[in-house]
Amino acid sequence: MVINCAAYTAVDRAEEEEGLATEINTVAVGVLAEWASLRSRPLLTFSTDYVFDGAADCPYVESSSTNPINAYGRSKLLGESLAAGHGALVVRTSWVISGSHPNFVATILRKVREQELRVVDDQRGNPTVAADLARASYAALQSGASGLLHLTNQGETTWYELARTSVGLVDLDPSRISPCETRDYPTPARRPTYSVLASERLDGLGLDPLPHWRESIGELVVELKTWV
Ligand SMILES: NC(=O)c1ccc[n+]([C@@H]2O[C@H](COP(=O)([O-])OP(=O)(O)OC[C@H]3O[C@@H](n4cnc5c(N)ncnc54)[C@H](OP(=O)(O)O)[C@@H]3O)[C@@H](O)[C@H]2O)c1
Repeated sequence: MVINCAAYTAVDRAEEEEGLATEINTVAVGVLAEWASLRSRPLLTFSTDYVFDGAADCPYVESSSTNPINAYGRSKLLGESLAAGHGALVVRTSWVISGSHPNFVATILRKVREQELRVVDDQRGNPTVAADLARASYAALQSGASGLLHLTNQGETTWYELARTSVGLVDLDPSRISPCETRDYPTPARRPTYSVLASERLDGLGLDPLPHWRESIGELVVELKTWV
């Protein structure tokens, strides 16, 4: 089996480099999917909640309409369509965090020691712990699933709530983090306001849902504390 974790993931830079993002997230994924299909090799590739526009007020499922609002999302959407067209398994996930790789929680734990922080409180999504995602993705691949599949930890939150929870878990002072709105923190790429994912396929595939993010984050934060 082939598992593709490579991608162009610089969401803001993609606004200036949509051609390169498309080469990596669309063209390369299409080549890989065709290669795997011709050889009957199962392929797993990852996609993102940023294929949605964030205008919904209930979780997006696999059959929900897509409408990316930034270049990264457009390049991923084209890539997932090519991959799924060749029979690959395309796992859409969101807000990935881990104890061993640079990510949002690692950045917050590092910066909060030096300064008070303002974190956006008006974007909602599902934090997803990489180890949970890896286990669930592998189980899905082994089940023979193909096409789109949403895999995130259970439970939705905001970046602000995620930051405060993480800081509290390592006995730092959560009051050093205050909420702000997206408009206070302008970025080149627009982000969906609401990109909560849910799966309408897990039950039918006989796969277990991932744990709630609050269950999984404790261990991860302790691990991060040792290296940030
Ligand atoms: N992180 C998230 O919150 C998140 C959320 C939703 C979906 N996803 C998806 O999950 C997957 C993994 O994301 P990630 O967060 O692990 O991304 P990442 O940390 O940016 O890792 C991407 C990897 O792709 C490699 N890569 C980039 N361009 C390449 C190229 N042309 N040829 C070969 N390798 C190349 C990078 O190598 P170098 O380091 O050498 O550049 C890097 O190792 C991606 O499909 C992403 O879209 C991530």
